[in-house]
Amino acid sequence: MRQDLTGMASVDPGLSEARLLSVLDTAVDGICVIDETGRILTLNRACERLFGYTAAEAVGENVRMLMPESYAGRHDNFLSSYLTTGERKIIGYGREVVARHKNGREFPMELSVGEVKSPEGRQFVGIMRDLRPRKIQEERLNRMQSQLVHFARVNAMDEMGAAIAHELNQPLTAVMLYLQAISRKLGTSEADPDGRLSDILGKAVREAQRAGQIIQRMRQFVENREAERRSTNVEALIDEALELVLLGQYTLSVSVVRDDEEDLPPVDVDPVQIQQILVNLIRNALEVVKDAEERWIRISSHRDGDDVVIEVADSGPGIPQANLRNLFRAFSSTKKKGLGLGLAISKSIAQSHGGDLSVDAGGDGRGAIFTLKLPLDSGDGMLAEA
Ligand SMILES: Nc1ncnc2c1ncn2[C@@H]1O[C@H](COP(=O)(O)OP(=O)(O)O)[C@@H](O)[C@H]1O
Ligand SMILES: [Mg+2]
Repeated sequence: MRQDLTGMASVDPGLSEARLLSVLDTAVDGICVIDETGRILTLNRACERLFGYTAAEAVGENVRMLMPESYAGRHDNFLSSYLTTGERKIIGYGREVVARHKNGREFPMELSVGEVKSPEGRQFVGIMRDLRPRKIQEERLNRMQSQLVHFARVNAMDEMGAAIAHELNQPLTAVMLYLQAISRKLGTSEADPDGRLSDILGKAVREAQRAGQIIQRMRQFVENREAERRSTNVEALIDEALELVLLGQYTLSVSVVRDDEEDLPPVDVDPVQIQQILVNLIRNALEVVKDAEERWIRISSHRDGDDVVIEVADSGPGIPQANLRNLFRAFSSTKKKGLGLGLAISKSIAQSHGGDLSVDAGGDGRGAIFTLKLPLDSGDGMLAEA
């Protein structure tokens, strides 16, 4: 379309105005021609629909009328500076800009500007495409992605566990309040002269508080929430992920080794999302070592240049070559009950933080080592769970 149009206007000046207009009117894209001063010469039908002005209303007016106030003022400057210096601030393909409808509403559109040299002087041809349908698609995609991330997180904690954590919070709070009430009464009565009952009650309160914290953490983990960036201590993040995975695993016969470099600088991440990666990796590791002769997992963290690197290694059998190619793809599980979403989502979370997740497959008596890299300075990175 672009080439046709500009070609037509410059190469074949004999083309009648009426015919040119009728061709322009069949175009799906909005097309608007202006002169050197910004005056609208032609506005096709798609443009009329896009902006709500009829061609009769718009032709002869300054093209600023199609722009938001904040930009309109600068447009004349762009034009004159281009004409005097040749500096191309507005010429080019496919920039995303904000446009203004007749009713004042602003909307995103893609704008390509071409230049035409005509006998009457230089003219500029703008080709415009409404970006709203694409934006809506993008938003839907983002929403779906965030639901998937959330779904996988709930799945990692088991739906039951999440529901139970939710239900337990209230009775637990009540227990804590009752215990505190008794404790206050005891303090002022004769029934506990040596303070032993008070001690025991104090212990009960602390245990209830601890239970409450665990539930709190679990609820935060499975909650569906907006992505965020927060300065986060890596070691604490690993501690919490481990605590979540090991919840209720009283008979665990796997030794968990930690090796964290001292004084690691904090990383700017979404803590819950990074925890989600760690929970996935640690769970996978625990699952493969369950049947192994030696049973350990090792989680380490260290700084490597501008990255913080977290490794999760295990004493399992490693990953067969055949599984390696699709390992980070969705639905790549080799487990009877697996979803195969864990690694796919983990990798996309890592990348949305400007980092990456990779694997050393091991094998030949060596287990797998998963490496999570997070940049120390993520800049103003994109948000995964947008
Ligand atoms: N530490 C590991 N050692 C060996 N294989 C692994 C390891 N972690 C993951 N895998 C393999 O990768 C597959 C995909 O893992 P994941 O995406 O977490 O999905 P799921 O755990 O639901 O199967 C697993 O089914 C398993 O075959
Ligand atoms: Mg998994």
